[in-house]
Amino acid sequence: MTFTISDKDKNSKARAGLMQTAHGAIRTPIFMPVGTAGSVKAVHQRELHDDIKAQIILGNTYHLYLRPGLEILEKVGGLHKFNGWDKPILTDSGGYQVYSLSGTRKIKEEGVTFKSHIDGSKHVFSPEYVMDIQRKIGADIMMAFDECTPYPCDYEYARKSMDMTHRWLDRCINRFDATEGNYGYDQTLFPIVQGSTYKDLRKQSAEVIASKEQQGNAIGGLSVGEPAEMMYEMTELVCDILPADKPRYLMGVGTPANILECIALGVDMFDCVMPTRNARNGMLFTTEGIINIRNKKWEDDFSSIDPGLTGYVDTFYSKAYLRHLMISKEILGAQIASIHNLAFYLWLVESARKEIISGTFYEWKEKMVGKLMQRI
Ligand code: GUN
Repeated sequence: MTFTISDKDKNSKARAGLMQTAHGAIRTPIFMPVGTAGSVKAVHQRELHDDIKAQIILGNTYHLYLRPGLEILEKVGGLHKFNGWDKPILTDSGGYQVYSLSGTRKIKEEGVTFKSHIDGSKHVFSPEYVMDIQRKIGADIMMAFDECTPYPCDYEYARKSMDMTHRWLDRCINRFDATEGNYGYDQTLFPIVQGSTYKDLRKQSAEVIASKEQQGNAIGGLSVGEPAEMMYEMTELVCDILPADKPRYLMGVGTPANILECIALGVDMFDCVMPTRNARNGMLFTTEGIINIRNKKWEDDFSSIDPGLTGYVDTFYSKAYLRHLMISKEILGAQIASIHNLAFYLWLVESARKEIISGTFYEWKEKMVGKLMQRI
């Protein structure tokens, strides 16, 4: 994988760049739709490609390992072949899902023992095994196995956990370096900075991660319930230490405002379930602000869903029709709302990129943050 930065904003740390992977290019800053089980919920690959204009999607090691399982993934030749998405895929390592989804789990130096949220069966994830699984999934970008600490987290726990994540990283790198892609193309490994909300730990973790000189780096353990200001403070501190010439990925973030603020701090990649999860509940992010499409107010509003967007669902369907579908619990409602929200998130990062290139990002960001977060 390669990464080249073409433009830098004068009034912030925002940058516009281009990543090249085995499955094609990614223009940064970028948002990655979440496709947990190999499917972005309620969205066809054709819609992801043509309407949403996604450039990379995310999958989860934890879910894909449990279902369909490694045997099927290997037999078909990897996740790209299985789901038909021939552009880049990034997989999270399970370092978050093991803690948030499985019931009983035991974290030890060797790895994590957990019970499947599907059938209660027992499994063990070690750093080495998680590398092997991501090799079999065939993700273009594989994530290191880490522990995502909760918020709040006491200092001693955060420190010990961070040290273990660093030791796990060495084991991930050793396994990654000793193996090759299963399907004839190169894969990349991104390490993850931890350290909870403690400045000294974040600094230490960012220094350790930077010293490993991988092709890209991630920031984890944020957006887990801490105030936004704290998340920005940690992100800025870490971005200033991570290598400037490598992509920086802020995991699990966030709202449109969070994304713009963190682009301004030097983040290049984002993912979050918010656009798809909230869409299924009727919460739409639009270029005018946030709307609850279930609200009676939209009952006879026959204007397009978002007049500021030019994609298929936004020009074809009206607010009143989408409201009717959501109220009637028609599955098409969830589909249209998901496509809209993802198209909006991709519009947001593409617009940020254009503003960075034209040298107007900072002023634009200041104006947009307030507008996009207001409820209309
Ligand atoms: N997704 C959101 N936060 C995290 C994190 O800290 N680690 C991992 N592996 N995934 C995440």
